[in-house]
Amino acid sequence: MRQKQGWSWKPLIAAWRPLQLLIAANILALCLAEGSGHSGEVVDGPDPATMFEVQGRTFWNKSLGLDQLPHGVLGHQCSSSRPESHPTEFLTYTPNRRWPANPSDGRSAIVMAVGGEPERFYTRIEGAWYEWQGYFAKAIRQNTVLILLLDANFWTEVETLGEKLHLERLDCTTHRRTCDLAARMDQGYTVFTLSLFIQYPEGRKYFEPQEPFIIFAGIKDFPHPFWIDRRNQTEAEVLVSDWKTDKCNRANYAYTKFTNWYSYHMFDELRILDYFDFWWKVDDDTRWFGDLPLDITRKLVEERRIFFHTAVFYDPWSCVGPSLAQSIELFLDMESDLCSRPLRAVAFDKEWWTNDTYIYLSEFVGGWLGMYTSPELLEYGRIWNYYPYAMWTWRWGDQQFWTKANGLFDDGSGILDLSYLKQHDPSGGPPKGETSMMFYHG
Ligand SMILES: *[C@@H]1O[C@H](CO)[C@@H](O)[C@H](O)[C@H]1NC(C)=O
Ligand SMILES: *[C@@H]1O[C@H](CO)[C@@H](O)[C@H](O)[C@H]1NC(C)=O
Ligand SMILES: *[C@@H]1O[C@H](CO)[C@@H](O)[C@H](O)[C@H]1NC(C)=O
Repeated sequence: MRQKQGWSWKPLIAAWRPLQLLIAANILALCLAEGSGHSGEVVDGPDPATMFEVQGRTFWNKSLGLDQLPHGVLGHQCSSSRPESHPTEFLTYTPNRRWPANPSDGRSAIVMAVGGEPERFYTRIEGAWYEWQGYFAKAIRQNTVLILLLDANFWTEVETLGEKLHLERLDCTTHRRTCDLAARMDQGYTVFTLSLFIQYPEGRKYFEPQEPFIIFAGIKDFPHPFWIDRRNQTEAEVLVSDWKTDKCNRANYAYTKFTNWYSYHMFDELRILDYFDFWWKVDDDTRWFGDLPLDITRKLVEERRIFFHTAVFYDPWSCVGPSLAQSIELFLDMESDLCSRPLRAVAFDKEWWTNDTYIYLSEFVGGWLGMYTSPELLEYGRIWNYYPYAMWTWRWGDQQFWTKANGLFDDGSGILDLSYLKQHDPSGGPPKGETSMMFYHG
């Protein structure tokens, strides 16, 4: 049977190990000294050292930095650098956030990866933007921002975006620290504010410059898969080619890349998410037509939820394939091997976990960054992303990911069902007087 230190048979890894352990031990010592690093830990108030401010909205670094450890140091269930030996037959994770003691300290970021031509995006978002101004942005602006990531293959400037969406650039003479931080983070962000809102049903426009909705916009090089380089092609060539997935709805390259990006690369590469407790994903053609009947961020903090969704669905087998179950099997077998005993997913006996066709429609979903940027979940994300004959064959978008990611580490009690917010049949228009049904996706 393999020893617990089974890694030592790999000379390359062995050479790395002492350095990794030293770094991990230092970071863990720091975490433990601060009383963090354990599930369910809470934190009081903001960290003034990392705080920045945008017209009354404050943000501070909430990450424990566990996702920044060298790959593999903490990510395995029986990593010897874990503070405690692995306690159960179920998978566990090391939260990369503490829960805010005060629910009003919760922060969410809607991440929108904008692939393709600017005109395509403008057409879609302009069809919904008045409703953002009238219902959605207005309701969430207290604790939630929008992060717009514009594909560097197509975007060269953000000025037009500001004009089309009625945004104002943040005044960097009065907000120098904020602008500097934003410009240095990831590939650089421009900070915009939206102060023009709309009062329905009169359709009256009004300004609230002191209580804006905040938008970070950046032009970004999204990672492309290495098979492109091996074929001696460039991404630009693949983008204009007739490349299609073999299975599912024969999606094109950009669709497959940009929907899938959320499930692994988003957590792996976006440092701006360090300032938030929750990620959200909202499709750019989601329409809003009613008042949001709850403060989602606040509720997620109060109830310690790891995920919320707005629609359960079954994908056809042609969009799932055998690879999904195989990637899970590989992950469980590798983790079990490192522990020398069988490990299970926490939701192993739940229908939504065992049936691979079960998904959440991901036009409007979100999750806790404490779990989604934990080293253990990133470990599965990496396998999911690179598993052969998987995303590029069966067109796995992010919607195939969330059920599997949740079930590895949660029995479902951490999942908040907000499906009552969605209107499924938009044919008759917004339902009259139904203020709790506040969006549809057409
Ligand atoms: C936030 O803090 C963590 C832990 O100290 C650190 O690893 C990370 O780099 C910080 N993030 C940013 C964006 O400064
Ligand atoms: C890729 O290009 C390099 C350099 O031009 C060449 O040496 C190599 O044979 C090419 N490989 C393939 C698979 O075409
Ligand atoms: C999974 O669920 C779908 C939808 O309910 C059902 O049609 C299918 O038979 C289920 N598959 C298995 C293996 O139970």
